[in-house]
Amino acid sequence: MTKRIFSGMQPTNQLQLGNYLGALKNWVSLQNEGDNECIFCVVDLHAITKTYDKEGLTQATREVAAAYIAAGIDTDKSTLFAQSSVPGHSQLMWLLATMAQMGKLSRMTQFKDKAGKNTEKAGLGLYSYPVLMAADILLYNATHVPVGEDQKQHLELARDLAATFNTRYDIEHFIQPEPYIMGAGTRVMSLRDGTQKMSKSAESDMTRINLTDDADTIAKKIKKAKTDAEPVPSSEGDFENRPEAKNLMTIYSALSGEDMNALFSQFGGKTFGEFKPALADVAVSHLEPITTRMNQLMEDPQEIDKILIKGGEKCNATRTTILTKKQWILWVFGKGKTC
Ligand code: TYM
Repeated sequence: MTKRIFSGMQPTNQLQLGNYLGALKNWVSLQNEGDNECIFCVVDLHAITKTYDKEGLTQATREVAAAYIAAGIDTDKSTLFAQSSVPGHSQLMWLLATMAQMGKLSRMTQFKDKAGKNTEKAGLGLYSYPVLMAADILLYNATHVPVGEDQKQHLELARDLAATFNTRYDIEHFIQPEPYIMGAGTRVMSLRDGTQKMSKSAESDMTRINLTDDADTIAKKIKKAKTDAEPVPSSEGDFENRPEAKNLMTIYSALSGEDMNALFSQFGGKTFGEFKPALADVAVSHLEPITTRMNQLMEDPQEIDKILIKGGEKCNATRTTILTKKQWILWVFGKGKTC
């Protein structure tokens, strides 16, 4: 069976290493494997759940698209587009919103993190963010969704909504999408606190490696990354209560493709002063070509716009969704069950 892969990233700030290792790197492997049909989206509607400036958002949308291409997304093989260019996402979201329970949405950890203590002031957009994400996926009847670990709960909701929809409208329309949480870097942590996720929205730039960072900046951030006074771990047991050590070794493993046991033999017992330059070398040799290509692509923003527009047109034209297949209003009133 052909797998239909769908995933996306928000154009908020620069993409960081966690986005790359937890998602983008895996998208490229999935694109190049078998006859997978891949659709990758820049989720600009999700990015406006917080205040934004219009030009900044346009620029960030292009930068994310450039990062996808620079990392290896081939626009002849995969569809690349911006979420806001396909109205079906927000239309389907409304139908799903009528089935999404407030209780479930209130338990979403990402909402709790982002809304902070003052949930009264949080916007409906932030609250319903996972419903729009479910719509993104279900609109294409994606079978697999490659994401980092932090998106697992949102994927569960998408699966629930698919099942609820099918029951409510008495139709086997939506497939239950499977999360694809792959590889060593499913949860990359902050360089300054191994208990916090690396994030593009964290205040300090020193907590993350951005895909736009040059070689010197990467080396500096790794050199200053928090560690402890113990030597580099030699076994899994040595990771106990040492989240920063575990994180740096995980990043090494995810970038180099070497498994952790190989790293224990190579670096175990050495100092972090010896390990960190080796990690910086691996990071630079892996990321530098991507950054260079991204910068080249960003020199021609119109070309990126053309790619995004073409992708959006393809999605609008070829994705016959339940919204376009049925004469929706008549169909709902004729067939929908009362809840
Ligand atoms: P975003 O932009 O916050 O994250 C994009 C992807 O990067 C992964 N990620 C990480 N993986 C490992 N370690 C980290 N520190 C790290 N930080 C981020 C995320 O898991 C994600 O895969 N809600 C989505 C965007 C979205 C989406 C969708 C994804 C909207 N609609 C439909 C898939 C399908 C998000 O987290 O974006």
